[in-house]
Amino acid sequence: MRSDGGSKGLQIHPEFLAAVQDPETFEAAVACAKGQGWPAGTVVSTDIATVIQAVSRGRVPAIMIADTDNVDDPAAAITQLVKVCGSRSRILTIGSANDVGFYRSMIQAGAADYLVKPLNSVSLRDAISPLLVARDSAKDDKQAKAGHVYVLVGARGGVGTTTVAVNAAWVLAHELGQKTALIDLDLQYGNCDLALDLEPPRGLREVLSNPDRMDSLLINSSMVKESDNLAVFCCEDSLEEIIDYDTAGPMALLKELRGEYDHIVIDMPRSLIPRHRRLLVNADHVFIVTDLTLAGIRDTQRISAAISSLAPTGQIHVIAGRVGEGDAQISRATFERSAKAKLEVLVPNDARTIKVSANKGKSVVSEAPHTIITKSMRAVAGIMAGQAIKVAASGGGLLERLLGKKG
Ligand SMILES: Nc1ncnc2c1ncn2[C@@H]1O[C@H](COP(=O)(O)OP(=O)(O)OP(=O)(O)O)[C@@H](O)[C@H]1O
Ligand SMILES: [Mg+2]
Repeated sequence: MRSDGGSKGLQIHPEFLAAVQDPETFEAAVACAKGQGWPAGTVVSTDIATVIQAVSRGRVPAIMIADTDNVDDPAAAITQLVKVCGSRSRILTIGSANDVGFYRSMIQAGAADYLVKPLNSVSLRDAISPLLVARDSAKDDKQAKAGHVYVLVGARGGVGTTTVAVNAAWVLAHELGQKTALIDLDLQYGNCDLALDLEPPRGLREVLSNPDRMDSLLINSSMVKESDNLAVFCCEDSLEEIIDYDTAGPMALLKELRGEYDHIVIDMPRSLIPRHRRLLVNADHVFIVTDLTLAGIRDTQRISAAISSLAPTGQIHVIAGRVGEGDAQISRATFERSAKAKLEVLVPNDARTIKVSANKGKSVVSEAPHTIITKSMRAVAGIMAGQAIKVAASGGGLLERLLGKKG
């Protein structure tokens, strides 16, 4: 374990610094740093006071790990560190204290997160990932404007998340006439292809598993075009295998797609939330789709808290799906009060319309342009696009078809 020999000997790398107190964490931090391509020298055995002295001289790493063990007043030390670094650095605190009060004091002091020891390289990497994304998206914002990313995730299974994702994407592509990509991250059970009667391509798994090989050929092999403006990324992978890809895969795909599409709509199974937190942090809007049940309240709150704790750059919206279905549903007011969340869109349960569109493999919006369920899909697309979508003004409904344009 390398001791830095005082603040003067501490070399500050522009990307990363881990100041740790014990050999086990030291080893984990070195492995984590190497995984990110940072030199092993970015990990040092030193205390927070020494780090504060070193960064006070001007150079500040973008991401820092600060060990709160053996510090008399950790909250004061982190407050001081945050003050010295300003907004140039994001600080991940670690330590042996395992209580909520301590965690809160770290967050209040300005830390991005607090992790309890023992730590390994994977837990450190997972905690650093969202900080990297936040830094990257801040950089991207300064560069040319790129496509916006929306993630839809169901608080419960079968609440209509995919239906909303497919139809909102369809509205963006057909009624706003903007380039839209729809990505179905459920590689085994996804049904975006079925909803639009598309033959699933084969390459999505390969794309997501090979972030370093991303090129237009590979990307094209993973998507099927529903129309000029709507590309659907999906597949129907074997159920005999365990499919697991690192979050670097979708991140690399998004990087490519952002340059080409105005909107990128992601249908994300909730089981992927822990693994692909970077996607949620990076999204411009996250939509949690829930049913109006007690379990829906609980899981909306849990997912919302999990996302909020990552300091996402975008907004979180809650949508009620299949409203009016079944006897177990509670009222909107009860849901909102208990979940402490506003329901921004209510999608009615409309089995008849859904059945007709499913049987034809067409979007609900194109099959039933004047129904309440279609209105709710347009409302979701409107939040994504940052504008209310009125079909008479923008076409795509009856008017457009009467005029003989593509619908
Ligand atoms: N608003 C609705 N009214 C009536 N039926 C609906 C509605 N939305 C979805 N459905 C039906 O409910 C079923 C599940 O829909 P969908 O696949 O969109 O849900 P999901 O939340 O994505 O499910 P999963 O958890 O399996 O991913 C489908 O049969 C679909 O046709
Ligand atoms: Mg689904």
